[in-house]
Amino acid sequence: MRHLIDPSDFTREELAALIERAEDIIRRPAFYADACKGKILATLFYEPSTRTRLSFESAMLSLGGSVLGFANADASSATKGESVADTIRMVSCYADICAMRHPKEGAALVASRFSKIPVINAGDGGHQHPTQTLTDLLTIHSVKKRLTGLTFGFCGDLMFGRTVHSLVKALSAYEDNRFIFISPGELKIPAYVREKTGNTAVESENLEEHIGGMDVLYMTRVQRERFFNEEDYVRLKDRYVLDKQKLSRAREDLAVLHPLPRVNEISVEVDADPRALYFEQARYGRYIRMALLMKLLEEAQTKERA
Ligand code: CP
Repeated sequence: MRHLIDPSDFTREELAALIERAEDIIRRPAFYADACKGKILATLFYEPSTRTRLSFESAMLSLGGSVLGFANADASSATKGESVADTIRMVSCYADICAMRHPKEGAALVASRFSKIPVINAGDGGHQHPTQTLTDLLTIHSVKKRLTGLTFGFCGDLMFGRTVHSLVKALSAYEDNRFIFISPGELKIPAYVREKTGNTAVESENLEEHIGGMDVLYMTRVQRERFFNEEDYVRLKDRYVLDKQKLSRAREDLAVLHPLPRVNEISVEVDADPRALYFEQARYGRYIRMALLMKLLEEAQTKERA
């Protein structure tokens, strides 16, 4: 059974095919209106979400399928002590595919080992968020027309930001990409992610110094929910705020991305700048998840027939 737990679960060829299909879905959505007719997506969200859950649901409905699930752990039998392993055994009886978000690193991987249906990791703690990466790759490809030979700046909470971990891992597989990691010393990128870049990345605390050399700037929120103490969060949360003045140092073709939600790290005055692509990025999330649902369900069906 094929799952998506980590961005490296898909080859470059598979990622290219997903992006191509998502671009085709954007061009002619009516062609895909019944592609998942009769299929059921379960959304198991043990942590809050706006974009990921709703775009998954919108994706399945747009493909003619149906959706069931829960939006918080309190609405499930997890409150009675049921394990992820037992929950996915049950969900395998009721749905054809599942997207799971969980506060614990590795939860989706555990689920995949007990599941009879494809499991998609919709975010596991501070670890990985592979479907945000698919969204990011589609967005970058749409504006740069390539995923190679680019300079990427990542700014903010690089320690707990799972979207950063997944995207760096994915982009490191493409040749000639360069990485600039900008964060406070306490929120540096974990070594296991940094080493994916072949340890060629630049690390800095200064956004202004480096913004002029970037093709893509990926801003991130300081992940309050992963902090052990509120004082540290308050001290670090507004360390980087992208505003018009800082953006004036950047290239005309810079792409500013953010996985969202935004708190204060991009000033609203930046929203009107043509380089601000984060809302477009969120829109693309629906189309790439449509392509993903189709791929995993097609593969599960082929396996069932074999
Ligand atoms: N980007 C992202 O994961 O957003 P949500 O937490 O709203 O799903």
